[in-house]
This record gives sequence, C-alpha cells and structure tokens, in this order.
Amino acid sequence: MAVRRVLKMGDPLLYQKAAPVEQFGSPQLEELISDMFDTMAALEGAGLAAPQIGVCQRVVIFGFNSNPRYPEAEPVPTTILINPTIELLGEETSEDWEGCLSVPGLRGRVARHTKIRYGGYDQAGSELDRTVSGFHARVVQHECDHLDGILYPMRLKDVRLMGFEEALFPDL
Ligand code: NI
Repeated sequence: MAVRRVLKMGDPLLYQKAAPVEQFGSPQLEELISDMFDTMAALEGAGLAAPQIGVCQRVVIFGFNSNPRYPEAEPVPTTILINPTIELLGEETSEDWEGCLSVPGLRGRVARHTKIRYGGYDQAGSELDRTVSGFHARVVQHECDHLDGILYPMRLKDVRLMGFEEALFPDL
C-alpha cells in the first residue's frame, strides 16, 4: 500500500507502448493495483494507468461515485482492467473537457467515441465485457490511450482547446 509518484508529461516512460500482463493473481500484480488505487485516491483522479507510475504494463483502473475533479460526470463503476481491448461503436463522437494526473492543472476538450464496447481481465484473470457510453466510455478511452503512449493533449484538434483549470473554470 503506497501512494506512488505520478510521472508528468515529458517523461519518456509515458510515451512507450506498455506490455501485456502475462500472469494473473500474482502478489506483484496485487501490489501494483493496490498502489494504483492509493495513488488515484490521494490525487482524486477518475482513473489511472500503470505507466503513469512508471510501470509499463497494460493495467488501468478507474471509477468513482462522485469526483470533485469532474462534478458533472455520472458515476462510473470501480474497475480494474488488464490487457484491455476497445471496440468503437458507431461513428458518433462527443467533445468534453478532460484532465490527466500526468498533466496537472490543465484541461483540454477532446473528441472521443460516444459509445464503445470494451473487454479485458481483472487481477484474478476473470473476463470483463461491457458496452458503455458517455463519461464512462471517455474514461476508458483516455486510460487505455496511456497504454499506447498517448496523452490527451496529443488528441487535441487545436491547442486553444487546452488551458489552465483556474483560467477555464474560475468558479470551481
Ligand atoms: Ni491520464
């Protein structure tokens, strides 16, 4: 159990393609996931990917009932997702503000697929298969991008769609 340091944009580890997890149920995997939850909770994140704490494996976590960083967002079930796959459903995309614990203090308006089906495994190797939309779909796409070395600013159509939280949301 430990809050780990979150790597910030610019750190080369964030731009690598993460490797699949090959062994489920190991103490190392349990410890990694436990550290990820501690770190996400300490920073009030909506999600976290293992590469953000310097572990280049295909592990993400996300979920919350309510989140002060995303007050408008509907609840997302607390989820451990390993070796994920995403199928984009339909053509519809929506634009919304995103933040990232590796890009502190900033937000950007990112277009994501509105509806997706995603799959993967939990830490014990049990399979997961969900079809989701809205903020849930957004969080999954954001976190899984981390596993391919993609940070949300790399998806902005225009740098003017990014800014500091205090400038964009002075009332928050
Ligand atoms: Ni992120």
